[in-house]
Amino acid sequence: MDDKLNVRSLIDAEKGVVKPAIYTDQAIYELELERVFARSWLFLTHECLIPKAGDFFTTFMGEDPVIVVRQKDGSVAAFLNQCRHRGMKLCHAEEGNTRALTCPYHGWSYGLDGELKSVPLEEEAYRNALDKSKWGMRKVPRLAVYKGLIFGNWDESAPGLEDYLGDMAWYLDGFLDRREGGTEVVGGIHKWVIECNWKFAAEQFCSDQYHAPYTHGSAVQVLQPVATNKPDGAPLGEGQTDKPAWANGLGGVQFSGNGHGSAFFFTEKPDANVWVDGEVSTYFRETYAETEKRVGRVRALRLAGHNTMFPTLSWLNGTQTLRIWHPRGPNQIEVWAFCIADKAAPDSVKEALKKSHARAFGPAGFLEQDDSENWVEVQKVLRGHMAKQTEFCMQMGLGFEERRDDGIPGITNNTFAETAARGFYKRWADMMTAESWDEIDAMAGIELKEAANA
Ligand code: FES
Ligand code: FE
Repeated sequence: MDDKLNVRSLIDAEKGVVKPAIYTDQAIYELELERVFARSWLFLTHECLIPKAGDFFTTFMGEDPVIVVRQKDGSVAAFLNQCRHRGMKLCHAEEGNTRALTCPYHGWSYGLDGELKSVPLEEEAYRNALDKSKWGMRKVPRLAVYKGLIFGNWDESAPGLEDYLGDMAWYLDGFLDRREGGTEVVGGIHKWVIECNWKFAAEQFCSDQYHAPYTHGSAVQVLQPVATNKPDGAPLGEGQTDKPAWANGLGGVQFSGNGHGSAFFFTEKPDANVWVDGEVSTYFRETYAETEKRVGRVRALRLAGHNTMFPTLSWLNGTQTLRIWHPRGPNQIEVWAFCIADKAAPDSVKEALKKSHARAFGPAGFLEQDDSENWVEVQKVLRGHMAKQTEFCMQMGLGFEERRDDGIPGITNNTFAETAARGFYKRWADMMTAESWDEIDAMAGIELKEAANA
């Protein structure tokens, strides 16, 4: 297909118009695997999950299975989880510790460094003529760690991780850098399948606070007042409110940059997005002073918000869910949800966080189900011939973008806007049509200049 022509005809991110074929078309999806997933920085795992030499964690970059391995010298390497003999998936375990990776098909065996170490019947079958040095595992060429999170990128010419993040690092710090010692993953990883395109999930976490009062209306009615009152029944403190975050009159902000996005409400309460758990609320209030010292007042209080680092890493402050939306064809995703806790938190708080995370954003979580039902139903509608050709509106807040002077970086808007969604799809369309990272960067520069002058 002529990808440049078709992609630009399907989306006009600047004007906020989308044709739904981008959510259903197999050829678009194949191009995404090549141009988005094989060129972006993708979250692989948290450092705490592979602390010792030989520890490994298997995941995906797009649809490519990869294995992340702690090396003998303490460094981290990642490889395509595919045997070089006849292509079998090498490691089928989700995580563990090993001295070698041996293929279950014919027994080729690789070292932790990805080198092919031995092949069965080397003398009889290969007549000792196989050059093993040429058949090591395929290495992910770019790896980088950001405050405990390990990322990989297949594209050697991609910008460094910090440049790729840009202003998004400011938001990520508000999640990962709240206490001395950083974060860790608590409990296991919830993994489940949702029948929807990956962009619905990523876009919502990037931009869409507009759904919250309506989609989560029942949860808000029943639970939000519990979270916004002090759990011990004490009266509200100065500036505190028992109204939901969007109704408290304090407003909120939406941020867009490099395809990443964040949408959040201002609050006066360190535990505003905790929802149900008394012990977790107490913890956020008791550690507020340290957090404010480290990341400042706005981010210390900025619990009521969600975020996406382009393309598929999302997180929510307060309920502490960090999730990756692995694409599985145009019509399906596999969600992997990690519960993130401050390493310095007491064990009882980590246990409470694990429960509050699962209640809200586990596969059966009360907020999770509200969200995913929408994506599944949209995807079902898009089976229709007419539905597939009917454009979507993405124009909320169009033209009201601004830069703030209060330290909140990037292109911003009111939290109820689709600025970050437009930014997300602009980056998506740029990556889908650009031949190189130089071209992608040039296109991003045009957007920023125009927005700044608007
Ligand atoms: Fe792995 Fe043959 S496919 S050893
Ligand atoms: Fe939601």
